[in-house]
Amino acid sequence: RAMSPRKIIIDTDPGQDDAFAMLLALGSPELEVVAVTAIAGNVPVSKTERNARQLVELAGRPDIRVAPGCTRPMVKPLKTAEYVHGDSGLEGWELPEPSTPALPVHGVDLIIDTVMAAPAGEITLCPLGPLTNIAMALIKEPRIAPRLREIVLMGGGYFEGGNTTPSAEFNIFVDPHAAHVVFTSGVPLTMVPIDCTYKAILTPAWLERLKAVGKRTALAAAGLAEFYQRYGNQKFGTDSYPLHDPCVIGYLLRPGIFGGRKCFVEIEITSPVTMGATVVDWWNVTKREPNCMVLRDLDNPAFYDLMLERIARLP
Ligand code: RIB
Ligand code: CA
Repeated sequence: RAMSPRKIIIDTDPGQDDAFAMLLALGSPELEVVAVTAIAGNVPVSKTERNARQLVELAGRPDIRVAPGCTRPMVKPLKTAEYVHGDSGLEGWELPEPSTPALPVHGVDLIIDTVMAAPAGEITLCPLGPLTNIAMALIKEPRIAPRLREIVLMGGGYFEGGNTTPSAEFNIFVDPHAAHVVFTSGVPLTMVPIDCTYKAILTPAWLERLKAVGKRTALAAAGLAEFYQRYGNQKFGTDSYPLHDPCVIGYLLRPGIFGGRKCFVEIEITSPVTMGATVVDWWNVTKREPNCMVLRDLDNPAFYDLMLERIARLP
């Protein structure tokens, strides 16, 4: 008997790489996306929410609930990344106007209501942007913490330093206080940092294989990737560059192609120099109880073969 699909909530700030994570999830029968919540990050939440609605409809899933979440971080002012993702946040392919209106529900409430209505241990949260919605949900309704199966998030960096400051990765840097709430929540955590996602290299050859699928979702994804590539060229100086967020979904689908270790991780929320750093006790020198599985290794060809095969299933 086939396993029943793993139920996930995707919290996201699309974002071309977020788009690949959403499409990978929606093309994978092992997962059931029970809700999508948008967060302010790459671009303001009014845009990330609309982008998320366009993406579920692109994948033929207008039934999936999409709700807008917080408009800004808990303490810091919002910092966006149009320089990476373009003004809309999803430049690279003209997607149809969303046919469904935004849910008249706040993303934080959609997370709380979905988790409280489900049996304990059933829902996994997959944050792909700043952690504001997750932190606010944990603060508004602490009872969700013991009911969550796991939080698997893209964020942080340790061996690779940071991609937004020398010591902080974008998702954590935008809202380090929210990250502190999440990393001290006691919820089982898996962190997919840039140490891992920098190995998730999209190559021109793979892009050609994606285009060869020839269906609307694959062609749209290829267009999004090509736009994102221009930034990759600037930063990495090559036509091959990393897609961060789909690693979260790839880990849920094929944990065996990832590697890492359980560590104690804490977030810098005081120093102006290292604000937002994810300080990973990789050698357990503090002897503190690990609070997080920290991923570092990835079988990249296997990951991209999986992503191609799943996106190819979409309309
Ligand atoms: O640092 C990479 C992360 O920041 C990704 O989630 C990307 O979408 C941006 O949000
Ligand atoms: Ca993201």
